[in-house]
Amino acid sequence: MSDKRKILVTNALPYANGPLHLGHMVGYIQADIWVRLQKMLGHDCIYICGSDSHGTPIMIQAEKIGLSPEVMIERVQHDHEKDFSDFHVGFDNYYTTHSEENKQLVETIFKRHLAAGNIVKRIIKQLFDPVKNMFLPDRYIKGECPNCNAKDQYGDNCEVCGTTYLPTDLKNAYSTLSGAKPIEKESEHYFFQLQNYEKFLKAWTRHGHLQEQVTNKLDEWFKNGLREWDISRDAPYFGFKIPGEKDKYFYVWLDAPIGYIASFKNLCARKKELNFDEYWNKTSQTELYHFIGKDIIYFHALFWPATLEGAEFRTPTAIFVNGYLTIDGQKMSKSRGTFIKARTYLNHLQPEYLRYYFAAKLSNRIEDLDVNFDDFTQRINSDLVGKFINIASRCASFINKYFSGKLSAQCAEQSLYQDFASVGDSIANSYKKLEYSHAIRQIMALADRANQYIDEKKPWALIKDANRQQEVEEVCSVGINLFRVLMIYLKPVLPQTAEQVEAFLNIAPLQWNDKDTPLLNHIINEFQPLINRIDPKQIEAMKMAAQQDIEKSTNTPAPNVEAATPTKAPVKESISIEDFNKIDLRIAKILEAEAIEGADKLLRLKVELVNETRQIFAGIKSAYQPEQLIGRQVIIVANLAPRKMRFGVSEGMVIAASGEDNANLFLVSPDPGAQPGMRVK
Ligand code: MSP
Ligand code: ZN
Repeated sequence: MSDKRKILVTNALPYANGPLHLGHMVGYIQADIWVRLQKMLGHDCIYICGSDSHGTPIMIQAEKIGLSPEVMIERVQHDHEKDFSDFHVGFDNYYTTHSEENKQLVETIFKRHLAAGNIVKRIIKQLFDPVKNMFLPDRYIKGECPNCNAKDQYGDNCEVCGTTYLPTDLKNAYSTLSGAKPIEKESEHYFFQLQNYEKFLKAWTRHGHLQEQVTNKLDEWFKNGLREWDISRDAPYFGFKIPGEKDKYFYVWLDAPIGYIASFKNLCARKKELNFDEYWNKTSQTELYHFIGKDIIYFHALFWPATLEGAEFRTPTAIFVNGYLTIDGQKMSKSRGTFIKARTYLNHLQPEYLRYYFAAKLSNRIEDLDVNFDDFTQRINSDLVGKFINIASRCASFINKYFSGKLSAQCAEQSLYQDFASVGDSIANSYKKLEYSHAIRQIMALADRANQYIDEKKPWALIKDANRQQEVEEVCSVGINLFRVLMIYLKPVLPQTAEQVEAFLNIAPLQWNDKDTPLLNHIINEFQPLINRIDPKQIEAMKMAAQQDIEKSTNTPAPNVEAATPTKAPVKESISIEDFNKIDLRIAKILEAEAIEGADKLLRLKVELVNETRQIFAGIKSAYQPEQLIGRQVIIVANLAPRKMRFGVSEGMVIAASGEDNANLFLVSPDPGAQPGMRVK
């Protein structure tokens, strides 16, 4: 194909510090639909994403749950990947910003800007937490509003009177991390001179790269003047060190979008046919699109193109921005009880319901998208089950039962079929322009016509007339063919159903152009129910589970096992306090964990007490991946006599809870704040 395009699509990289929620899914489902359409049209479309793994919130969250940041980001990445894949978000690569590729790219880009004079160093004063010994990002500072004296306001603006100010203006400021009163302290920082790029950015933003609402927003920012951007942070920080500095790191928002390039680079290593430079060189002829949410426009439409431009990389073709999700008209929040994790949804409802519902509501405008669950249920049951699937279920049984599964040799309704096929270009265009709701309206109008056709022809009545059986075959074959065209149009939204329909129709994966040729003289398989009606009880159960999630959101990571049955054995005979005191229980931190060749239950652990480390063999392999354990604090019996085992000496025992059958294990860990070596009593 001569007009085959090379397209690279990215989605915002989600922070690896907590689970995905339904709000996140808007942008990912939106982009996935777009990518699937491009692929169906025959273009080379590559879709990448990954975890945003750096920054203060990641560091603080890891500390809070007693894990090293490395372990936490890996676990969260794993969960995110599972959520995406279960929602059929089909990335070609999912990587992480905490990677060697990214480190190299960040350094290259930084050095190029430094050499070009786009980065200057300056000493600034910032608020510092004297207890935690760290500079405080605005979000960790609270105090009284300098304007209206409202209490507990964040460091940048007052939620009561709306005034914006500097954190240093807050009265009676305190650190939300330690409660301490912040002090002002000096530090040298690196500043990216964004204002050098004003001319370039003004031209870039007016070149059809952005939705109108985004352009307007940018005009406001231009009017206020572009300001330099602080791209450095002081230790302690989880990120990449700045070359030539001891205790300074790149700010997460510098390395995060560079993570797009790193994810692509990582994919190139696996897919040899991809040429990195072809996609990222300044003169690249390929297309690059970023899908993001409305809260991160500034980073993507100003900082990011400037970062790329000055470092001799290509700039984005366009940025697509989605609005925010609300639930029953409310902002998603734990306090309002409207917080629904992606996983909680998946435990109760099919992913394609949500994909369809989002598609039916999404437009090119950056409007918030509301999920109203009554509307949701009604939409799915009436559109997908009542209109779309119904066409196949009405026709397939006749074909299978009376005509050995064979579709007629001629299409009996050429012009009706042509009508269906000819709407395809317009539907594809609606998808391309992100006007998904328009595409869905067009598709559902066709579904109505297909049902009307079957209603008029009444195959169930015709079949009773021995002279008109041939007509039944023709009518039902037309019905199946119309259904097939609708499936093509819905395939970007419903990839799993499409796969099942391809199996049912006994055909190769559907491409967009297949709409032009009906299936004739072709044997199909038995029809299986494809999409089930939603029972309102499922919605209730999901909402209840979401409520429970909120209540128990303790942030404690549990191992990936089902809840075990408690043991029924009676409590053992009593012992004296002296007996108990003989056992020396200590907090220990796991430094290393590894499987042992030839042992199917044991892991070898290296744990740290105060000034000593120990080797312990623990029978916990069934419940934990060794790499999950590194950095975790546990409780050990420190004075258990060393035991010589086949693999070496075990110098203690790790405490874990176990169920009736010993199959499930739960390591016991102290609350955050405990230190290795502390006595447990
Ligand atoms: N890590 C940054 C993005 C870095 S991109 C180089 C980030 N992560 S996030 O986890 O907070 O958000 C991921 C995406 O989800 C962003 O596009 C964000 O706008 C979007 N959303 C987060 N909450 C959302 C809703 N409630 N509704 C719709 N989109 C939402 O931002
Ligand atoms: Zn105020």
